[in-house]
Amino acid sequence: MSEIARIILDGIEYELPVFEGTEGEKAIDISSLRAKSGYITLDSGYKNTGSTKSSITFLDGEKGILHYRGYPIEQLAEKASFLEVSYLLIYGELPNVEQLEWFTKSITMHTLVHEDMRRFFEAFPTGAHPMGILSSMISSLSTFYPESQNPNRPYKDIEKTIHRLIAKMPTLAAQAFKNSQGHPINYPNNKLSYTSNFLHMMYALPSNDYEVDPVVEDALNKLLILHADHEQNCSASTVRIVGSSQANLYSSVSAGIAALWGPLHGGANQEVIEMLETIKADGGGLQKWVDKAKDKTDSFRLMGFGHRVYKNFDPRAKIIKKAADDVLVKLGVDDPVLDIAKQLEEVALKDPYFIERGLYPNVDFYSGIIYRALGIPTDMFTVMFAIGRLPGWIAQWKEMIEAGDPIGRPRQIYTGATARDYVELKNR
Ligand code: MLT
Repeated sequence: MSEIARIILDGIEYELPVFEGTEGEKAIDISSLRAKSGYITLDSGYKNTGSTKSSITFLDGEKGILHYRGYPIEQLAEKASFLEVSYLLIYGELPNVEQLEWFTKSITMHTLVHEDMRRFFEAFPTGAHPMGILSSMISSLSTFYPESQNPNRPYKDIEKTIHRLIAKMPTLAAQAFKNSQGHPINYPNNKLSYTSNFLHMMYALPSNDYEVDPVVEDALNKLLILHADHEQNCSASTVRIVGSSQANLYSSVSAGIAALWGPLHGGANQEVIEMLETIKADGGGLQKWVDKAKDKTDSFRLMGFGHRVYKNFDPRAKIIKKAADDVLVKLGVDDPVLDIAKQLEEVALKDPYFIERGLYPNVDFYSGIIYRALGIPTDMFTVMFAIGRLPGWIAQWKEMIEAGDPIGRPRQIYTGATARDYVELKNR
């Protein structure tokens, strides 16, 4: 017998069905409420509202749990490759040997981007933010591959579009970086793994025979896996609602990239380093900035601490913290900004003010440290987040289509002027 929720409105009792998920989460299904009662619900930012049913990612903010298709993130980060996890998120199961070979080969075949896209890079102003470039480039892929625009979305077109997107994202990201450096671009080397190929495209120079450091590759593989999906976060919800209008995958993901760019979302890792650089430029003394963070009258806030969903700790941060320590030791990085980060981490983990408020170092804090240690420029940090989140966006978009979800069209409560007549200009 499924549960029923009862709500009394204007003296009338209404019954609404309760839906329970596989992990015991419960929701009141309000899809019939307006038709029955004329009422809608109101929840700015949808923090207490489920937009869909999904079998991709489960997270428990109170317990610090994060699973992709049921597999704990700790095990995937330790044992899987990013392409394995991408396959898992998109197709629902871990691939066997043949499936992983097929998936890897298909993606490898599509790593090149059309040469005409080089002209787009040249058209951007010097210093253009790579997230603005990436969002534009990903959207423009739909013009090179018009079969992606078929609103009927035959499966063969969807699959090719998905593989092309996974393959070309690192190529376009690396080319945006090289373009911003005024360096010649590197073409993909399909003998390398997905992660190593990206590092090669980013760092190989005509003057150096760039070799991928296994510690760096492992850290990046973990970072991409840990960022791969996070249920209905801002950018995933953006991808879903754009895709719900039958917009193509490239356009939907381009919108997701734009949403991720925001400092309150994926842009937080860039904000972390910029905050640390501000502290360094101010002399590096931490206490002043810790006091500012505690001062309610001061607008300064510590970036990279706490999380809107995880109340006690971000499970991803625990894994990335270890990877960050390994990278700093292995690369022998001596960076005063990263020294400040380690001091700030120590304060946040010991100071009752931060502990009581759940302001622990989060995934953005540690990923910013690793990206900086890898020599990735600060304005490329959110691009790295986008590369990691791509399979999650694709999986959410694909699930939305396969579930036959309707076009997203939220309601509102109007609070503006009530009906009034037009006033001639001379009488205003
Ligand atoms: C994410 O991974 O998308 C961020 O932690 C933000 C979120 O989940 O709301």
